[in-house]
Amino acid sequence: MTPILEVSRLGFLSWLLCAVVVQAEPLFDVFKYVDQLIGTDNGGNVFAGATLPYGMAKAVADVDGQNTGGFSTDGSNVIGFSHMHDSGTGGNPSLGNFPLFPQYCAEDVLDNCNFLREARATPYNGSSVVASPGYFSLSLVNGIQAEMTVTQHAALYHFTFPSETAADGKELSPLILLDLTDLAASRQNATISVEGAGIRGNGTFIPSFGGGSFIMHFCAEFTGSTIKDSGIWVNNRAGTEPKDLFVTRGINLFYLEAGGFIRFDRPASGTISARVGVSFVSADQACRNAEEEIPDWDFDGIKKTAEDAWREKLSVVSVDAGGASDSLQTNFWSAIYRTMISPQNYTGENPLWTSDEPYFDSFYCLWDSFRSQLPFLTIVDPDTLSSMVRSLLDTYKHLGWLPDCRMSLCKGFTQGGSNADIVIADAFVKNLTGPVPIDWALAYEAVVNDAENEPLDWSNEGRGGLMSWKALNYIPALDFDYLGFGTNSRSISRTLEYSYNDFCISKIAQGLGNGNGHAKYSDRAMNWKNLFKPDQKSSINGKDTGFTGFFQPKYLNGTWGFQDPILCSPLDGFCSLTSNPQETFEDSIWEYQFFVPQDFASLITLLGGEVEFIKRLDFLHTSGLTDIGNEPSFLTVFLYHYAGRPALSTQRVHSYVPGYFNASTTGLPGNDDNGAMASFTAFCMIGLFPNPGQNVYLISPPFFESVSFRHPQSSKAATIKNIGFDPSYKNVYVQNATLNGKPYTRNWIGHEFFLEGMVLELVLGETESDWGTKEEDRPPSMSAAGMAM
Ligand SMILES: *[C@@H]1O[C@H](CO)[C@@H](O)[C@H](O)[C@H]1NC(C)=O
Ligand SMILES: *[C@@H]1O[C@H](CO)[C@@H](O)[C@H](O)[C@H]1NC(C)=O
Ligand SMILES: *[C@@H]1O[C@H](CO)[C@@H](O)[C@H](O)[C@H]1NC(C)=O
Ligand SMILES: *[C@@H]1O[C@H](CO)[C@@H](O)[C@H](O)[C@H]1NC(C)=O
Ligand SMILES: *[C@@H]1O[C@H](CO)[C@@H](O)[C@H](O)[C@H]1NC(C)=O
Ligand SMILES: *[C@@H]1O[C@H](CO)[C@@H](O)[C@H](O)[C@H]1NC(C)=O
Ligand SMILES: *[C@@H]1O[C@H](CO)[C@@H](O)[C@H](O)[C@H]1NC(C)=O
Ligand SMILES: *[C@@H]1O[C@H](CO)[C@@H](O)[C@H](O)[C@H]1NC(C)=O
Repeated sequence: MTPILEVSRLGFLSWLLCAVVVQAEPLFDVFKYVDQLIGTDNGGNVFAGATLPYGMAKAVADVDGQNTGGFSTDGSNVIGFSHMHDSGTGGNPSLGNFPLFPQYCAEDVLDNCNFLREARATPYNGSSVVASPGYFSLSLVNGIQAEMTVTQHAALYHFTFPSETAADGKELSPLILLDLTDLAASRQNATISVEGAGIRGNGTFIPSFGGGSFIMHFCAEFTGSTIKDSGIWVNNRAGTEPKDLFVTRGINLFYLEAGGFIRFDRPASGTISARVGVSFVSADQACRNAEEEIPDWDFDGIKKTAEDAWREKLSVVSVDAGGASDSLQTNFWSAIYRTMISPQNYTGENPLWTSDEPYFDSFYCLWDSFRSQLPFLTIVDPDTLSSMVRSLLDTYKHLGWLPDCRMSLCKGFTQGGSNADIVIADAFVKNLTGPVPIDWALAYEAVVNDAENEPLDWSNEGRGGLMSWKALNYIPALDFDYLGFGTNSRSISRTLEYSYNDFCISKIAQGLGNGNGHAKYSDRAMNWKNLFKPDQKSSINGKDTGFTGFFQPKYLNGTWGFQDPILCSPLDGFCSLTSNPQETFEDSIWEYQFFVPQDFASLITLLGGEVEFIKRLDFLHTSGLTDIGNEPSFLTVFLYHYAGRPALSTQRVHSYVPGYFNASTTGLPGNDDNGAMASFTAFCMIGLFPNPGQNVYLISPPFFESVSFRHPQSSKAATIKNIGFDPSYKNVYVQNATLNGKPYTRNWIGHEFFLEGMVLELVLGETESDWGTKEEDRPPSMSAAGMAM
């Protein structure tokens, strides 16, 4: 972590002036509370390295252990330093293309160098790791130190070599290799050419959770010393001639490790700088990116620019901690930091089509990020979110479909519904705008396309089973669907998700004054009811849970199928998309029974009323049936609000934060998923939780005395303040509230709160009160009277 110079200087100053000045408030330095190592172990897969907000260049040390995001604090070995990554994703490691690796060759003999990934893997010194916004460094146990910082499309490294001598007493020559690979070793063919102090080339790679392939280009240059020799290496043998290489994969797909290298005379400082530009367009553009963004090789200047960019983004939020612990503050600010790592801004780097619109990538996946990450950006970074929405729409315009999951210019796998519909509706109902307004007519066309037209390959866009959806009003198990191809599974979760997607479309239609669209999609938003089997029971290890009525699969002929309601829950094993797909995706019927975000009022009635609903929610959260480390569980934490018991949501929040989301390297219960877990943490701690796609935040007291948000567009400040705040969290129940000084009894609030800069004051007490419990104080539901949406 960065030392806080400002504070110590100020401390010195106030000591000097102590006779006059009583005590200066120490300056708040937000970086003191950003810990990029949270979630770098235990499967969080967080990217810990140097990046700008939404930057394409993301530099870090790559390890041979948990390397999905490049680096891990799991104590594994460093195998390279590479320039692009994703953050928090699951499955295959993502990106990590064209790593550099610094070393000495024993006795200065080229063939003694370790070129292969496995051979060169070197442990790092755990206490040498420094990660701060825009910066990362560590030392290998052999004493070689690597420091890095970045611009938007380029990385700047300092490799510092300790002096070492050969048996004859001559000083060894530092070697830096570049490997034509990525973390997943997905490279197909690649080219490299070494010329002077530069190495450039390209490679074709396979995306980490999608189809097709992509080409990436690089341009690396070195400075700091004279060159001893250079060349290429193949399969742990290297030569100084030739200087160019083309590698491909044979018919048996054999993976030949290969790349280029440069050897230097060791400079007196020991430091050799490497500047690496990346591009999806061409090697020339990669070189231009590096030259334009890092013209002077000014490491401190580049680092400072990155730090300023982060301070600017984080300055939107301010906190009066009121005695909350440093560890909670670290949890909070680090979470906010992580919500702005991805999606990544690849504007100007998209070779697939020509457009003046922004291009964002690494929507990885919207199934994760619609729930809270993108809604969080609506609050803290609406300009960027509006660029992201425009990018989704531009992708629709040029590829014919809204993305559902997208990485490295490729289509990723669809997990459930057409989740971009929710992202777009959320932006719409919150009046999202940016420097260029969003084309809502195009947006409506795009979401209707999802709802009406089945793509040939709905495993990576749109929806499957639309014939049945329109004719039967549910997705049948064992559907007869000859229009398109996709994993013919998840009929229950897809029915629930498509219902909500259609609800979101109905809200856009309504807002655009399209009465027919509103009516049609509101009807379809009720389809979820068709899979509710009122007499279905559920037992665990033969013991009846006591609840009756669950969703069940239904065949085309209207007959019920059967899926045990606990199947795919943590009690019964994980269900993945490909290896063991079931009628629910990655979670159980128990979890999905609460995925009716548009109409909790109806769901409560269907499940037997408020008391029964609350019993079920409690059972979900206490029986081991839910996994808070997977996104479908997020909203369930707050659903007590809909049953008029906001205090129970508050209780639940405190059982998960910091118990399952804390400021340690193992402090995430699952993959961060591009900042999904981060946004969950941040929303829990600010005391407002979104029901995405609706103009609704559910109120629960913040973890701090007060939290303020300066709206980046209007500069108006919205503040949520606890009266009677207690950092030991005994007083956590709202007794009473005021909004702009007037009594406020609703347990939810709309986005106007942020847009208009309101002040919400919550009077806290030790026990549940009747605040927010009345029928009229609950959040809106489709079927509830006075639905205000
Ligand atoms: C590891 O790094 C720390 C911090 O830089 C340093 O104090 C320590 O001496 C290093 N340990 C070794 C074995 O080099
Ligand atoms: C490189 O690999 C890609 C993907 O496998 C292939 O389409 C292309 O034809 C290859 N190019 C050459 C020059 O071999
Ligand atoms: C990759 O680089 C080689 C050598 O410069 C070049 O011939 C080839 O066209 C490049 N491939 C692409 C897709 O740009
Ligand atoms: C995205 O990147 C482009 C090109 O670097 C830049 O002009 C634009 O301002 C960026 N957009 C956002 C929202 O940061
Ligand atoms: C969005 O704009 C409409 C029309 O001006 C307004 O009625 C609505 O209240 C606004 N919504 C929010 C969240 O500010
Ligand atoms: C309906 O279809 C299912 C699945 O094919 C089958 O098992 C069942 O017997 C059918 N029921 C009727 C009444 O035809
Ligand atoms: C921190 O979170 C992790 C992941 O959820 C959990 O395993 C661990 O018990 C938590 N630690 C504390 C002290 O609550
Ligand atoms: C809450 O506020 C109302 C009206 O402002 C007041 O009548 C009531 O006594 C307050 N209740 C509590 C518990 O503070």
